[in-house]
Amino acid sequence: MAAAPYNPWRLSVAPMLDWTDRHCRYFHRLLTRHTRLYTEMVTTGALMHGSHRRHLRFHAEEHPVALQLGGSEPAELAAAAKLGQDWGYDEINLNCGCPSERVQRGAFGACLMAEPALVADGVKAMCDAVDIPVTVKHRIGIDRIEDYGFVRDFVGQVSEAGCRVFIVHARNAWLQGLSPKENREVPPLRYEAVYRLKRDFPALTIVLNGGVTTNAQIAAHLAQVDGVMVGREAYHNPWLLSTWDEAFFGDSPFALSREDVEAAMVAYMEREAQDDACPWYPIARHILGLRHGLRGARRWRQIWSDHRLKPEPPRAVFALARSAWVAAADVPATEFG
Ligand SMILES: Cc1cc2nc3c(=O)[nH]c(=O)nc-3n(C[C@H](O)[C@H](O)[C@H](O)COP(=O)(O)O)c2cc1C
Repeated sequence: MAAAPYNPWRLSVAPMLDWTDRHCRYFHRLLTRHTRLYTEMVTTGALMHGSHRRHLRFHAEEHPVALQLGGSEPAELAAAAKLGQDWGYDEINLNCGCPSERVQRGAFGACLMAEPALVADGVKAMCDAVDIPVTVKHRIGIDRIEDYGFVRDFVGQVSEAGCRVFIVHARNAWLQGLSPKENREVPPLRYEAVYRLKRDFPALTIVLNGGVTTNAQIAAHLAQVDGVMVGREAYHNPWLLSTWDEAFFGDSPFALSREDVEAAMVAYMEREAQDDACPWYPIARHILGLRHGLRGARRWRQIWSDHRLKPEPPRAVFALARSAWVAAADVPATEFG
């Protein structure tokens, strides 16, 4: 059989705490078949002491989907990675990029970049425990360290432990004085450092992340690195995802309209209510960007986020949202099938 024509990491939606839950990923998967999806970060502590089902379950439709772990203790990482494999994930990703408070046992997130030997031990333990790829998401530096050698040595050491895929958020993490949100905006983007990693480690898969908002930018980065990961733009402007299978994977054009996707999500909300007693609003919050940039989007969004409608069934809210959209956007009602 011919080899798969595209690198599995060519395009992905970033792990985002509180955002990329299973409902959000189901929605994103309706928009793109080939893009890789990531869970929110799940800490090893949550898996050791909490409900596996709550943290790990996902829909079969979500594949390819990666579980992102937060932690630093190799034995716990190995046990968590094994759980992830057993639950059917396609990849285990270790978070070495989130600026986070130190936790009781060691640390997790970006401060791990200062401890490459510990990360290497964790990666090795996970690689020994699972057969699926173990990958690392990290920054290009921490605090004011702007020396390229820092990230080069980190990647070098961690790759020797068995990691072949590095997802690089192209800015430093400042561990003191900035909130996590500011840490996604204030430290400057330095894409050249990520390009350089690819040149220095041609055999590794290097994925660039940070500040990407358009397909033109994605195409430009793909000329330099193996993959691009998109976070906030994917969440706020999800219709962009509907262009990716055609633009970046040689697939046929996306065949559904926004209304089709919304209707599919309503059917999903009904199934979740039936099977899991899950209300529609924690699902609906993820689709609010579906009409991003269109006239009438605000009115439509307001209906789907109106807390007074919570007791209504989702199909009734769908009908109200449609009427609000038609009225505000001046769209002929016949355009809705
Ligand atoms: C709400 C939110 C939550 C995030 N949670 C995580 C997380 O759990 N793990 C992680 O590695 N990065 C997390 N990030 C960072 C993103 O994965 C990504 O690296 C960052 O947003 C930069 O990409 P972007 O400019 O395309 O958004 C989060 C970002 C946002 C906006």
